[in-house]
Amino acid sequence: MLKTVKPYMRFIVYTFLISVVSMLISYASTIVGKYVVDDATNGIINLRNMAWMCGTMLVSILISVFSSIISSYISEKFSFSLRKKFFNDIQRSVWLDISKMHSGDLVTRLTSDIGSISDGLITIIPQTILICTQLLIAFFILFYYDKKIALFALILGPVGALCLVIFRERYKKYQAKLRKSESEYRSFMQENLSNLTVIKAFGREDANDAQMEAFRKKRLGLVFKNARLSAAMSAIMRLVYSIGYVVAFCWGSYRISTGDITYGTLTIFITLVAQVQGSISSLASIVPQYYSMLVSAKRITSVIDLPKEEYIGATTMPQAVGLEVEDVSFAYDTAIILKHLNLQVNAGEKIAVIGPSGAGKTTLVRLLLALTKPTRGSMHYVFENAQKETIYPDARRYISYVPQGNTLISGSIADNLRIGSPDADEAEMLHALKLASADRFVNALPQGLETMLSEKSGGISEGQAQRIAIARALIGEKPVLILDEATSALDEKTETVILKNITENLQDKTCFIITHRKSMLQYCDRVLEIAEDGTAEIRPI
Ligand SMILES: Nc1ncnc2c1ncn2[C@@H]1O[C@H](COP(=O)(O)OP(=O)(O)O)[C@@H](O)[C@H]1O
Ligand SMILES: [Mg+2]
Repeated sequence: MLKTVKPYMRFIVYTFLISVVSMLISYASTIVGKYVVDDATNGIINLRNMAWMCGTMLVSILISVFSSIISSYISEKFSFSLRKKFFNDIQRSVWLDISKMHSGDLVTRLTSDIGSISDGLITIIPQTILICTQLLIAFFILFYYDKKIALFALILGPVGALCLVIFRERYKKYQAKLRKSESEYRSFMQENLSNLTVIKAFGREDANDAQMEAFRKKRLGLVFKNARLSAAMSAIMRLVYSIGYVVAFCWGSYRISTGDITYGTLTIFITLVAQVQGSISSLASIVPQYYSMLVSAKRITSVIDLPKEEYIGATTMPQAVGLEVEDVSFAYDTAIILKHLNLQVNAGEKIAVIGPSGAGKTTLVRLLLALTKPTRGSMHYVFENAQKETIYPDARRYISYVPQGNTLISGSIADNLRIGSPDADEAEMLHALKLASADRFVNALPQGLETMLSEKSGGISEGQAQRIAIARALIGEKPVLILDEATSALDEKTETVILKNITENLQDKTCFIITHRKSMLQYCDRVLEIAEDGTAEIRPI
């Protein structure tokens, strides 16, 4: 995170320096004030010094306005670049690890946690340095005018620090709990909002209200405990400060009575004490913010540290791709899904993959897409020149894929097709839609390709969404095509048309077609049957 902050370091230092200048000016104004009072006690009205006082105050106000504008600009720039980096890391993490996390939890980390970190790095650190500098300068000014009072103020410092140490662990604990509960309720809301149909059909509204109430209670308790801790700490800080104030005041009065200091010097004491009070109360509010930043940083690094996908850097685009699988076994954690799979597929072959639900068909697809690695054995794609490439995420450059289920994104139909090929023109889109038997219904829509789909392809039927997903895969014209139950929501006739289109028009494409319908097998060359126990058999149709 410090690396990410580096490009902004310059700006942070600038704002910090500006604050230092503004602070120095306000001290200067305090000291000028002393001379104004001292002159007045001697019966002199010093207009020049008064004008200096006004001037320095105005400048310090102007500077603080300027610095607050700059710091909000930097803060947005920085928090967004952190967010971007984290989003990038999530996208590039190994699928199996990242897919175990709830998207609501990840969004909370992307928003709240990153926000607290960027606030932390941008405000807390410079501000703490500033406050410490401010306290130090105040100490030296006091020391210059009266050594005893300055030394007394020095004793108060450790008392304040001790108070922070006592509260530290509890702060951390509550902050961690607060973040966790935020992730929980956001995941809950996100999930329920995206499954409103299920909520309504099963009459879960009241149960969900009760769950939200439980979240509210839990959070309220935590927030209350956290607030109590903050209040206790700031009360102790203020008490320490008040003792300092009273002592400074009484001591100053005593010194005036003995004639050791002037009224002007007493004014310095009082003004400094007021300034220090401001610093101390902001220090008291910075501490919880600081622990919230630490907790967030931990939550972010635990995701950043997840293993990333390894690429081998292959870029050549093969024209024809075959597959070679040698003794591959695969297990999620301990459950063995595929056992000793051996398979040779020639370029252009159409392989039907069948087997009962839960046998491991989609798992095989994940291996083909390098979303996960075989537990043992080896898998290669074989190119037209007999060159072999072990399956790494690089392989995705020549594979098109229709996932199981509803996978369109919100946006227009054309937007969805452009995921398959970013610069596809209308003719190419219509051709792909025709192959996927989707051209008729898309053309019949009033806005055709520009028809907007809402989340989860709202606005069209599931079978129509599946056909657009097939068109999205066909538009890239890649040599490998994987269909994972891609026609499950279609009637047999439409399914037949699509399969015929694929097998007759795309003879060079190597296809893996997962299906439950036996009638589809006639369009394929061979069939791979995965049994429930994880063994598999390949045979001609
Ligand atoms: N991410 C996962 N983590 C652990 N087990 C999984 C995961 N995905 C699938 N499985 C298990 O692997 C088995 C095969 O799943 P899958 O390949 O999706 O079956 P299907 O043949 O129906 O496509 C199932 O028993 C399932 O419970
Ligand atoms: Mg499946």
